[in-house]
Amino acid sequence: MMAAAGRVVENQVSESSEVNRMDNPVCPVSLEEVTLADVEVLECPYPTYAYLREHAPVYQDPLTGMYVVTRYEDQRQIALDYDNFSNWRPSNDHANLTGNARLAYERFLENGWVPGESLAARDDPEHKQMRSIFDHAFRPKRINAIDHEVEALAYELIDDVVAGQDGVCEFVSQFAVPLPLIIICRQMGADMEDVWQIKKWTDAWIRGVGFGLSAEDVLKYTDLEIQAQHYFQAIFDKLRRTPDDSLLSDLVNIEVPGWGRTLSDNELHAEMMQDTFVGGSETTTNALSAGVMLLARNPATWEKLRSDPERYLKTFCDEVVRLESPAQGMSRTAKNEVVVGGVRIPKGAQVDLRYAAGNRDPEVFDNPDEIDLERRNAGAHLGFSTGTHYCLGAPLARRELYWGFKAFIDRIEHFRLIPEKNDLRHLPNYSLRILKELHIEFTPVK
Ligand code: HEM
Repeated sequence: MMAAAGRVVENQVSESSEVNRMDNPVCPVSLEEVTLADVEVLECPYPTYAYLREHAPVYQDPLTGMYVVTRYEDQRQIALDYDNFSNWRPSNDHANLTGNARLAYERFLENGWVPGESLAARDDPEHKQMRSIFDHAFRPKRINAIDHEVEALAYELIDDVVAGQDGVCEFVSQFAVPLPLIIICRQMGADMEDVWQIKKWTDAWIRGVGFGLSAEDVLKYTDLEIQAQHYFQAIFDKLRRTPDDSLLSDLVNIEVPGWGRTLSDNELHAEMMQDTFVGGSETTTNALSAGVMLLARNPATWEKLRSDPERYLKTFCDEVVRLESPAQGMSRTAKNEVVVGGVRIPKGAQVDLRYAAGNRDPEVFDNPDEIDLERRNAGAHLGFSTGTHYCLGAPLARRELYWGFKAFIDRIEHFRLIPEKNDLRHLPNYSLRILKELHIEFTPVK
């Protein structure tokens, strides 16, 4: 799922951009100062989102040229308007790639596989045809079958945390990363001893779509992606010879309806990084980390959640995805000239649906910046999008969040952030919200 926005901006912004740099949180004082292509704004984007929602809900960012859409209803309208908006991305247009994107493309051609158009980057009817094999692979019966694995792994990981050290842990690397990563690795036929190598590849992939990269960086990250491709290619070949009951076996072997063929190697490689390992595990990791951070900052919510997890956990999971939106924004391309929120979006423009801003729209959510375990419309957030591109992995992610938080509640009596160890900063990334570390001190349940 993850892709385009980062690649679109990578050539156009730099980490040292001085525009709009103020103390954190960054609050723009006039529209001329607003850009999302600034790492300090993205570090704490919510004041900027609020400002844009109010003053310029469809705003052309001066640095990226993208039309940033921040109101919930406008986002819904665009996400559901397939006549006027496409998921096609400039990175699909290989003949016209320039700069760093061209460099990477040539490196893939030489040593690996040029990633094909991913599921998330296609439009219906092709998208629907391709999605049908994904829907089969992620069918409810299979997600139910995986559920006990998710539960067991969540308790195994938290028990290791509790047993391991003197009541302290770094929650991101010890729990939030391994839970979804190990689950997706099992479903993708990877050896468990390779899990941390795969994490290095996904980290490199994310950095490769980040800010202000030099040509050298781009080649370094592309080479790491090519290494990953060779690793996964061996698994595709094996599954073609000997299909099994894993999710990846379905993706490799089932013919796409209407295409008369299975997915090509290039198409499969695009799915491995964007849609499954990064789109699938990174996002869930970030929701788990964000959830524990929110609980640490809201002790009353922690007490309430612990008082009746069965009643409150589902809403809590939705509130985490709404408030911290691991996928902050997704891009679309305007197929025609369209007016949205009174602003003319020209044909061919890139549009950034900033779901994280829509998810705090006061027109839709009361007290939108607060976590509320009684919120009636908590599930109405756009954190998993809506319409034909609605997150394929949402049912799996919801189970991982449910069991991740449940295990945490069941094993931890009290906890707090360790102030001297946490700066609570995120990795610079245009599309994803990635908390780097979360050091906590805890008392286990006796
Ligand atoms: C908390 C965790 C997750 C969040 C917040 C999230 C968010 C999203 C969002 C916002 C989209 C829509 C993109 C758009 O509007 O263009 C999406 C699509 C997608 N997600 Fe997720 N996701 C999560 C977990 C997962 C998991 C666990 C998987 C798979 C293992 C997954 C696979 C996908 C795929 C394949 C798509 C593309 C669907 C399509 O275009 O038809 N996601 N996700």
